[in-house]
Amino acid sequence: MDVRMLVCGMGRVGQAFVNLLIQKSKDIQKRYDLNLKVVAAVDIGGAAVSPAGLPLEDLMVHLKKGGKVENMPGFGKKGLSGKEALSSIAAELLVETTPTNIRDGEPGMTHLRTALAHGKHVVTAAKGPLVLRYRELKDLADESRVKLMISAATAAALPTLDVGLSCLAGTEVLSAEGILNGTTNYILTRMYEEGTPYQDALAEAQKMGVAEPDPSLDVEGRDTANKILLIANEVLQAGLSLKDIPVEGITRVTPEDIQKARKEGKVIKLIGKVEKKDGKVVASVAPMGLPLDHPLASVRGTEKAISYLTDTMDRVTVSGGKSNPLGAAAAVLKDIIRIYQK
Ligand SMILES: NC(=O)c1ccc[n+]([C@@H]2O[C@H](COP(=O)([O-])OP(=O)(O)OC[C@H]3O[C@@H](n4cnc5c(N)ncnc54)[C@H](OP(=O)(O)O)[C@@H]3O)[C@@H](O)[C@H]2O)c1
Repeated sequence: MDVRMLVCGMGRVGQAFVNLLIQKSKDIQKRYDLNLKVVAAVDIGGAAVSPAGLPLEDLMVHLKKGGKVENMPGFGKKGLSGKEALSSIAAELLVETTPTNIRDGEPGMTHLRTALAHGKHVVTAAKGPLVLRYRELKDLADESRVKLMISAATAAALPTLDVGLSCLAGTEVLSAEGILNGTTNYILTRMYEEGTPYQDALAEAQKMGVAEPDPSLDVEGRDTANKILLIANEVLQAGLSLKDIPVEGITRVTPEDIQKARKEGKVIKLIGKVEKKDGKVVASVAPMGLPLDHPLASVRGTEKAISYLTDTMDRVTVSGGKSNPLGAAAAVLKDIIRIYQK
């Protein structure tokens, strides 16, 4: 089966996704009978377009040399926007890998609305539109009878949603607790294991490329809040908004807090939590002292994990998965395969 895709956002994740297709397309064709073609690669200045499918090796060589999609010889269309491409190019699916923007969700919001209105499946790594307009976008997908797949936006290579929706089918999920941000877990691990003060651990994480030059989204807990919100709404159908989630990051965690927790046989982790309480679903993000036998206590460094508590399967925990553009691209690829799996 041919699947024609538009990729919006040719940055780190978009390019990692195209590289994955180059590497794995034969295998995917053989194992899943899917012929994945990129009919348009869109970036901020325009697009490269080919209704028959772009030559992906040539595209990557062009980008590696510093070229832009809109200047790709024979295929470039200067100024063609994502919205225009999604409205005019025949395709089955949008891969959305533009930057996450929690203020108004753009440009992803326009891309998602346009794709869903035109009956295209959406696989998105961008969290902004989902955090702001989850219900509207889900309803739009349902009306158009297409899928909205969001694994890459919810801790990427860590299969938070697959476990919650598929492996725990038929259970009642009572709570989900997650270490959902690699940067903060790395900093807290350094503080716990080496006694490193917060500022030094952050500076080291930035030097290693684990933390962004502006780490506020991570260290203030907002990235974790975005992810637990999406998990709460997908797995527990919570209907929550970001304003419903009290958020505390790790910026005020001191070496003294870490030592105190250690003396009590605990380790401090930044936990995104959603649980059923008195008939309501409540979510929060905060640093928490976990007893050392808690399944999340041993999750170290940039590793992430999620632990579900259910009525009939008891506790189910999954950890690991790459926290990088390749891990996110692999989560996108997995979602595409799942759309077409019978
Ligand atoms: N990096 C990761 O490990 C990771 C993991 C999970 C999820 N994510 C999510 O995946 C998305 C992409 O991340 P990334 O690291 O690949 O970001 P990135 O490197 O900044 O790439 C984003 C790309 O989108 C382009 N873009 C900006 N505005 C656009 C528009 N209006 N139309 C089309 N393209 C536009 C950017 O172009 P310019 O650079 O010219 O502005 C850039 O090429 C983000 O939403 C992020 O939160 C990333």
